[in-house]
Formats: sequence, C-alpha cells, structure tokens
Amino acid sequence: MADLHATERLVPDDTGIARAAELLLAGGLVSFPTETVYGLGGVATDDIAVARIFEAKGRPHFNPLIAHVPDLEAVSKIAELSGRAHDLAQAFWPGPLTLVLPMRADAGLSPLVSAGLTTVAVRIPDHSLAQKLLRAVGRPVVAPSANPSGRISPTEAEHVLAGLGGRIEAVLDGGPCSVGVESTIVGFRDDRAVILRDGGVTAEVLAGVLGAVPARRGENDQIDAPGQLVSHYAPNGRVRLEATAPEPGEVMVGFGPVGGDLTLSASGDLAEAAANLFRHFHALDAMGADRIAVAPVPEEGLGVAINDRLRRAAAPR
Ligand code: TXA
Ligand code: MG
Repeated sequence: MADLHATERLVPDDTGIARAAELLLAGGLVSFPTETVYGLGGVATDDIAVARIFEAKGRPHFNPLIAHVPDLEAVSKIAELSGRAHDLAQAFWPGPLTLVLPMRADAGLSPLVSAGLTTVAVRIPDHSLAQKLLRAVGRPVVAPSANPSGRISPTEAEHVLAGLGGRIEAVLDGGPCSVGVESTIVGFRDDRAVILRDGGVTAEVLAGVLGAVPARRGENDQIDAPGQLVSHYAPNGRVRLEATAPEPGEVMVGFGPVGGDLTLSASGDLAEAAANLFRHFHALDAMGADRIAVAPVPEEGLGVAINDRLRRAAAPR
C-alpha cells in the first residue's frame, strides 16, 4: 500500500463499509467518523499500519493511541475493566469517553499503540458507521484525529481530505460529527479516576457517577506505574546514539547498513523501524542490557519521531 495516488471517498452504505474494512485489513489507513471527530484508522495489531499513521500525520513523536472497539466483549480481549473504570464504562459507553486501562498480556496490539506502556487507551464510539466498521473489521482499530500534526481536528470528511488527501487510502464519509471535540480521557491511580484530557464528557458529568469531581493530572504527576510516564518510557540501560559499532559491553541496535545484536530494520525501512522501536526496548530490558548503542537513524519522515524517542531514552535520567 505504499504508492498512494487518490484517497477514496466512500459513501456510508454497506458497500462503502465493506470497502473500508477491506482496506483496513489489508494494512491501509482509512479515516472514519466517530461522534467526536474523524479518526485516522489503522488495524491495531498491524505494526506497519500503526507506524504509517504517524507517518501520514507527520507526528514528530510517538504518543500512544486510542484503540476503538465496538463493545465490551471486544474491550475484554485487550484490557482489564474493573472497579471505577467499569462503572464509567457502564455509564458512558458507547460514547465520547476514553479509559486508560491495564493492557492484557495477550492483547496482541502493536507496541506502538501504547508507546511501550503496559496500559492501553480504549474507547467504544457511539456512531453507527464507526460501530458497523469496527464490527466488519473484527479487530481493534487505532484512530488519532485525522489531521496533520499540529492542525485542528476534522469534523467533516472534507476536512480530512484537505489535510490528508493522497496520504491515506480512504475516508468513509458520514457527514459532520455531532460532538465536535475529542473524547475525555480518564486514567486511574489506585482505582481513583484522573482526567488526562478534557473532552466530550465533562468533569461534572463524570462526577455524577464517581460521586466527586475527579482530579486532573498535574504537570509532573505520575499517572502510570513508576518509570512508565507516557513521555518517559525508555529501556533501563544507558543509551548511546549515532553509534556505528558497539564498544565493549554494549548491546548494539542496528539500522540499515549498521548491523547489531538487534536491528530496527536491516533494510533501512523507517516504518519497520518505528514498529520495532518499543518492542526492542522491551527486549533490551528482558536481556538485562545495561549499555546500549544505537545506529544512526535518518532525521526524515518517521525518523523524526524515532529520533525524538531515542533522544529521550539517551537523556540523563
Ligand atoms: O475523540 C477521540 O478521542 C478521537 C477519536 C478519533 O476517537 N481520537 C483521539 O486520539 O483524539 P488522539 O490520538 O489524538 O489522542 C489520544 C490521546 C493522546 O493524547 C495520548 O497521550 C492519550 O490518548 N493516551 C493514549 N494511550 C494512553 C496511555 N496508555 N496512557 C496515557 N495516555 C494515553
Ligand atoms: Mg489529535
């Protein structure tokens, strides 16, 4: 699916939905409407499709994505839903609420979905087309807002085409979105709800179920497990960048012509490298690597986000 020419505009009937599902299952990127905004969908179990989302948006860094599923049964295949999270799910799903939940070990999602974290953000959207599409695909679909990085979120198919036309396979045109702002994101600390992003479900409405207005995440607040802040996930070992060969005692992570004990991509493919990045971070921890050397990665396309994450990993901790 590398050569893109025209982005298909699909009408919201059974044929259009079937085509959208077919393209997604073949690794394509398809924008679809939800009640909040249009999402840029890719199958969450497909490494390369998830990497291509960052490429298409031109995102300069890898932030974790929301997995969209049609129902609670599909949630239970990827995440643990209990306590307060379960209460909120009962009250607001389907709807404009995203819950950050412990990820199941056998969820099978690309590590890029959660940016290497052990949690996963999940949402059941309340939009009939999104529901039909998710059922037709039969797998979780990640979908950030379907706009180029730094631009405003699209609430009509026309906005999607204006920003991403020629960069994605298709857009399923379902007319304007009803909510128009992104979903509210709620995480949990010891079963206490914390608002990570304000959105379609207000804090006051959440309070109706929780009994009190939930806290908002502060600047330096740790919502994830220690050492697992979204912006800080990195391997345990000390990381040296721009290495062309390992020094004694270093585990070498290669790219392209620079080989290694592991390689991000032997062929120098940036989408493959992005897909392997967090997987290799985990592998390095599993092998107990305390000194890590990483080959140069070109600062272009997905390389920008890869290098952003590598530089964070190499920064003094
Ligand atoms: O309304 C929406 O939520 C739209 C529609 C398409 O569903 N999607 C959306 O996705 O806004 P996106 O990728 O723009 O926002 C996802 C947010 C990110 O800011 C990310 O930091 C947060 O969710 N997030 C995802 N996974 C997380 C995790 N495991 N822990 C903490 N935050 C997470
Ligand atoms: Mg966005």
